[in-house]
Amino acid sequence: LTDTFQLRNKVEIPCIGYGTWKTPDGETASASVRTAIELGYRHIDTAAAYGNETSVGEGIRESGISREQLFVTSKVWNTERGYEKTLHAFEKTCQDLGTDYLDLYLIHWPASVNQFENWEEINISTWKAMMELYKEGRVKAIGVSNFMPHHLKALMETDIIPMIDQIEFHPGWMQKETVKYCKENTIQVEAWSPLGNGRVLNHPNLQQIAQKYGKTVAQICIRWCLQHQVLPLSKSVTPSRIKENSEVFDFSLLPEDMEQIDKMENFGNSGSHPDKIDF
Ligand code: A2P
Repeated sequence: LTDTFQLRNKVEIPCIGYGTWKTPDGETASASVRTAIELGYRHIDTAAAYGNETSVGEGIRESGISREQLFVTSKVWNTERGYEKTLHAFEKTCQDLGTDYLDLYLIHWPASVNQFENWEEINISTWKAMMELYKEGRVKAIGVSNFMPHHLKALMETDIIPMIDQIEFHPGWMQKETVKYCKENTIQVEAWSPLGNGRVLNHPNLQQIAQKYGKTVAQICIRWCLQHQVLPLSKSVTPSRIKENSEVFDFSLLPEDMEQIDKMENFGNSGSHPDKIDF
């Protein structure tokens, strides 16, 4: 869990993150974040839109691990994009989390909120605020989430290109074009829902591979992400699973098993397409 990927700007990012999407606010969020940190996770991924930043912040403080030893990510939500609003949203997130800086700040979603908003313009003005926060040292790295190549291209002419793209990535949903584009442009890919939000866990191919290695399907999915150089953000509120999802450093998937997983049929995404905001 202390292994890292290195971003383009030399920032080291712990290679597995603890995700908090869908984690209920309150005691569940604070206790599970505290448990994750106690079990060795040093990378916590949250977002204003998850509605649990205050509790996530509590969990971080209750863990007793110093802020500098942790890597904390948050994201600016769609309704808060634009230069001024992003700066404001950043301060609110810091206040809720109880920190005065973030390790990583992302634009959460590329699409327009309504027909009057141009996604390209709104992302560029948001990116100006992100670059400013980065230059001021308030964030150690900046990036985007759910961006496909056409969304990323719109930011490629700016002073600082995104260092991270956090996308949905799991067996049966690999977004190969986006991953290829990111690799070519030294943009680190992070995987949200590396277990397909639990949907891949009963797949017979994965169960067979898991049995071969004496591991669980969840561990196979997380290891598969790591071997693709994609940073998994595993999410669980169950202590035994939080632990299980971190125990992936004592084995490697053989090339033929990587290939078999890569070839799995299309599982589809979780239902939210980057070009739409329909949730
Ligand atoms: P829970 O949080 O109740 O433990 P993803 O990260 O792909 O979105 O998947 C998250 C879902 O998968 C959650 O419902 C979570 O349940 C479940 N989950 C997480 N880790 C495991 C695991 N090791 N075994 C089985 N289910 C898991």
